Formats: sequence, structure tokens, C-alpha cells
Amino acid sequence: MENSNDLIEEIKELKKAKHAALLVHNYQVEEVQLAADYLGDSLELSRTAAVVKQDIIVFAGVKFMAETAKILAPQKKVLLPRLDAGCPMADMITVEELKVLKANHPHAKVVTYVNSSVEVKAESDACCTSSNAVKVVENIAADEIIFIPDQNLGNYVQKMVPQKKLILFEGYCYVHNRIKKEEITEMKKRLPGAKVLVHPEVRMEVIDLADEVLSTGGMLKYVSTSPHKQFIIATEQGLIERMKRENPGKEFYPALTAKICVNMKRTSLRDVYEALKYERYEIRVDRSIARRAVRALDEMLKYV
Ligand code: 13P
Ligand code: SF4
Repeated sequence: MENSNDLIEEIKELKKAKHAALLVHNYQVEEVQLAADYLGDSLELSRTAAVVKQDIIVFAGVKFMAETAKILAPQKKVLLPRLDAGCPMADMITVEELKVLKANHPHAKVVTYVNSSVEVKAESDACCTSSNAVKVVENIAADEIIFIPDQNLGNYVQKMVPQKKLILFEGYCYVHNRIKKEEITEMKKRLPGAKVLVHPEVRMEVIDLADEVLSTGGMLKYVSTSPHKQFIIATEQGLIERMKRENPGKEFYPALTAKICVNMKRTSLRDVYEALKYERYEIRVDRSIARRAVRALDEMLKYV
């Protein structure tokens, strides 16, 4: 077995020599998290990518995240260590399907979850992440909004912004969508003092059982500042490893039906090392598509 501390040291040296930054999403395996320069949720990492000083960005996450970084920092070399690390939800809606929705709702504006393709972003008025979806929808200048592709997130936003009409699409995240209300109900009975934190990609019946609905970054902030000691967490397991590491006095109970996002877990520490060493796999985005997509992403960056 390879020693991960040695590999982390080699990664550090390569980053310095090549003037590279390693951006890591909260769902990545622990040893990759430990090698990060920046560790965060989709919005935090997009903001970082837009301002990072280094010439190379290595993105340990899934493809849409690296593409977003490339669009926000077009002059940088953006590397994705595993080309097979995609997000199935991002591939659920095509540009053609979006065009049909637009034709059927000519007065609506389009708000697209950042978990989407660059082509779909280019056809959108604004993007959003799980942490600012409500604010983006509240602030966009339209009463009717096509919200794609995540139906669960869309239902949650609709609940929070009842004054607007959302037109939804049937996309979903296979990790969050399978979390069952029965499991959370049983956990709440077993742990009556625990706070229930859920990601907005879960079904509405699970959202209805939550104390807080938060992005992964939002959950981290909440648990570190909360006076409570026990937390039931309904999201991907990588986040829970970080919570335990950073909050040793607190107890975290994961919704076991969520298990892991296999796509997020594809990237190993060795993949990160090789990405840096061989400068692979470079993410490229067609310039004219990027020019249109960046407008929607800039809208997203306005709201924290
Ligand atoms: P966050 O932006 O909350 O980290 O979520 C990203 C994601 O892919 C959730 O499944
Ligand atoms: Fe996509 Fe779900 Fe994995 Fe997030 S957890 S990257 S939404 S498949």
C-alpha cells in the first residue's frame, strides 16, 4: 500500500514547482481532502476558481465543477484527474429539451443548477448552487422560472419562493434521491436531541423532516457553530468525514441510504499526483459557448 503522507508531500512539491492550486470538493475521499489548498462546496470552489492566483487548477471533484472553473478562469489550465468523474444529474437534460421548455414558456427566465452541461448553461439566464438557489430565484427579474435539472431542489425553491411560478424538469441526484423518510423518522426517534441537516437534493418528504436545509458548506458552518452535540446528516458520506475531523467533540449520524457518490469517489490521491505530473486531463470549453455560459455563472456569483 502506498503511503498517503509521502504522496501528499510529493503533491505539495509538484504544486509549488508548477504553480498549481488543488481545489477539492467536500465529497472527495479523505486523503484527497487532506491534500487540498481549497476544500469546499460548489459555490465556494467556483468563487475560488475565479480569483485563484496560480496558473494551473487541479479540480478534484466532478466534470461540471472543472468546466465551471475553466469558464470562470479561461486563462488558466484546468485539470480534472479522472475524466470518468461525471455527475449523472448534469447529463439528464439536453439543450434540445431546454429549448422545448423555453418555447412552451416564452416569458420565463431559466435558472440552471450548476450541476449541468456547459451547453445548457449557455442557454440559461442564471446558474445557481444548492447554497444560493433560493436567492437567485428570488432576485431574477421574472415571475415565471424554468428551473432545471433537479426536481427536488426545484420543489424546495418553490416552497421557499411561493410568489413565483417554477416550471420543473424531472432530473435528480441518485445519491440524495434514495434517502428515505422512514430512515430519517426512525433516526429522529432514536436520537431525539439531534439536529437534522439535509441537502436540498433530497425528496420533499425528507426536507419536511429537517431542521435545516443546507449545502455541504452550509452544513459545515452550522455544525461548527451550533451548541448542539448530535447531528443527523442526510447527504453524501465524504462530508461526514470532514465534519468528524473538524469537530471532534460532536457526533454525526449519516443517513445510510445515501451512501456514496461513486463519481466523486473515483479520484484517488495517485490520480491527483499524476494529474499534476503529466498535466492531465485538461478541460477545454468551446469559446463561444463559454462566452454565453459565463453570463449565467456571473449571475450565480452575485449571491452568497
Ligand atoms: P454542494 O454545492 O452543496 O457541495 O453540492 C454539490 C453536489 O454535487 C451535491 O450533490
Ligand atoms: Fe452529482 Fe449527486 Fe454526485 Fe452530487 S452527489 S456529484 S449531484 S451524482
